[in-house]
Amino acid sequence: MKVTVIGSGEMGRGIALVFAQFGNEVNLDDSIPEALEKAKKYISDNIAKMTEKGILKQSEGDDIKKRIAYVSNLEDAVKDSDLVVEAVPEIVELKQNIFATLDKVCRRDAILATNTSNIKISEISKDVKHKDRVLGLHFFNPANRMKLVEVIRSEDTADEYFEKAVKISESIGKTPVRVLRDSPGFIVNRINAPDMLFFCQVIDRNVEKPEELDAYAKGQGLPMGPYELMDFVGLDTVAHSLDYYAKTISDEYNKCTSIRKLVADGKMGKKTGKGFYDWSTGKAAIPKAEPSEKITIMDIFAIEINEAVKLIEEQVALPDEIETAVKLGLNRPFGPMSVAKSFTNAELKKMLENISKTYGLNIFKPAKSIEAGKLKEIISVRSFAAPSKKKEEKTSEVTSVPQGEKKYSSLILEKRSNYVARILLNHPKHNLINSDLLNDLESAIKEIWDDKEIRVVIITGSGETFSAGAELTQFIPGLFDFVEYTRKGERIFKLLQEIPKIVIAEIKGLALGGGFELSLSADIRVSTPEAQVAFPEVTIGLLPAWSGSQRLAKLIGSSRASYIILTGKRITGEEAKSLGIVSELFPKASIDEETIQFAEALANGVSPIAAALSKRLINRGADIAFDSGLEMESMAAGVLYGTEDLKEGISAMLQKRKPNFQGK
Ligand SMILES: NC(=O)c1ccc[n+]([C@@H]2O[C@H](COP(=O)([O-])OP(=O)(O)OC[C@H]3O[C@@H](n4cnc5c(N)ncnc54)[C@H](O)[C@@H]3O)[C@@H](O)[C@H]2O)c1
Repeated sequence: MKVTVIGSGEMGRGIALVFAQFGNEVNLDDSIPEALEKAKKYISDNIAKMTEKGILKQSEGDDIKKRIAYVSNLEDAVKDSDLVVEAVPEIVELKQNIFATLDKVCRRDAILATNTSNIKISEISKDVKHKDRVLGLHFFNPANRMKLVEVIRSEDTADEYFEKAVKISESIGKTPVRVLRDSPGFIVNRINAPDMLFFCQVIDRNVEKPEELDAYAKGQGLPMGPYELMDFVGLDTVAHSLDYYAKTISDEYNKCTSIRKLVADGKMGKKTGKGFYDWSTGKAAIPKAEPSEKITIMDIFAIEINEAVKLIEEQVALPDEIETAVKLGLNRPFGPMSVAKSFTNAELKKMLENISKTYGLNIFKPAKSIEAGKLKEIISVRSFAAPSKKKEEKTSEVTSVPQGEKKYSSLILEKRSNYVARILLNHPKHNLINSDLLNDLESAIKEIWDDKEIRVVIITGSGETFSAGAELTQFIPGLFDFVEYTRKGERIFKLLQEIPKIVIAEIKGLALGGGFELSLSADIRVSTPEAQVAFPEVTIGLLPAWSGSQRLAKLIGSSRASYIILTGKRITGEEAKSLGIVSELFPKASIDEETIQFAEALANGVSPIAAALSKRLINRGADIAFDSGLEMESMAAGVLYGTEDLKEGISAMLQKRKPNFQGK
């Protein structure tokens, strides 16, 4: 693909580099020759570093350099480009002029994208005739390393260009999030907007000193305090954003004097050597201070969740996309959606009302859904009809659901013919298990619990791996919450043990920690020889707490279980088979098909009632006295004696044919 990047500054140089890294021909354009020289050096230094670290071979680095042309004649540069990304300073008129020119000189099918931080796409495309190909591609700094790209559509953007831009972002190794409505600040910067106002108010009103709040924030694990961060970004940039939000979102964004005063005094932070702090040595000289707790991290989270809820209400983005955007854009282990789950509606509402009252600003008032007690509902929205450009009446609903398949947010329930169902974990980063996935698993199990058309359930990963374990970055506020979270995993995994159907765990790739525990809750495990299972918990100070500490010892004895749990060592599928954890090994290339065949053979070859009762006896028998187990066994056998299935089984055996069990 041919790409032109306009503006070779802080952002443009990184955008050019990443496109070239992924094989695209790039023109990097700037109106200032010295800027191009600087960009060339930046790109060359970055390639040298990647070569030193072994990320790139020398020849690959050379090829990347060859793919970038440094140009200053925009019209020539963009003539045959498939994509143009504008990254000139955040000045609306400048961007409008550039887009009006691009519209005239670019190919009709070229995508015209802006890397604006805040400005609505429709403002930038004001003078463009063919607005359907104009959209936002908002990269984060440094653009060659940060994974997030917000792909933003205006009302005029055509679906096909929007989707193409999503694909292009993926093709250069990014994680695109869809911004479905044109709204100032899009997702990450919009969620940050009320924070900035809040931090400014804290100083305007002398609630705390910057160093006190920064000390507290760092104590909470943030890499930089908010004031240090604003200095780092540039207070002029912050003030500029506040001005734009005052015009477009609420004039309350004008109510920030301290930052505007610093900017008026030429104190813009790191770039001018002075801001909230002194940066003359290149680092912030932050006065020593006791961390203050007048403002807590929960206040900040409450403000962010409130803004995120407004974004969902305005149908700007879906909750999952917001979560991803904030995590990747702000380098956080969790985003506002997962934090929101730890608040009750009433708690959040009260906190926001207090903040709003204390600072006298409506911006901090609870969003409509919180006001109406609908926090849980709004953060669970999974789709909404996205704006669609004229002729095509498409919505943003993720995919059409094929017959027999039900998609949950983190797994797929596939009902197959032949009495078999598959639960396919389908969650980022090797099917990491978090609270949402547990909820989906519970719903899927309940969905098939009474379904007589399903006798055998396979649980596995939708890709190459079973599950790499629990998502450790999930936000869990306190010790008691962690206890409850643990109990939740135990309870939901136990449903697999209790469901009156045969459950097979198909292990491929990795089954680590929580993933391994999930597989242990199945009745039978099959695996590839090279799959790896382990309990790495103790190596990070935890223990297998979704029933693994109990199940493994019951399964293979305490000596072998101790070795696996106490060393955290990975064992292969082959070793797991020799230990009795795994019953069958299937080749990696065909494990999915072979497991289905194995399941179908079971589903049709054994009586579902006999299987369900046997399963119950095995599981209960492990916990009760031997004689009680025998008592249960004889009762269960008595029940089976009256079934049609037993008659069918015996006559099929005598007639040397396959049985046809009806589960009666
Ligand atoms: N810096 C960030 O962290 C960041 C992050 C995300 C988005 N953005 C957005 O990206 C855009 C660029 O920001 P930046 O920080 O890279 O700015 P920058 O000032 O570092 O670079 C802008 C470049 O554009 C060049 N330029 C100006 N007018 C031009 C023209 N008419 N034709 C060609 N080149 C021209 C300048 O010479 C300069 O080299 C802005 O819209 C900004 O809001 C910035």
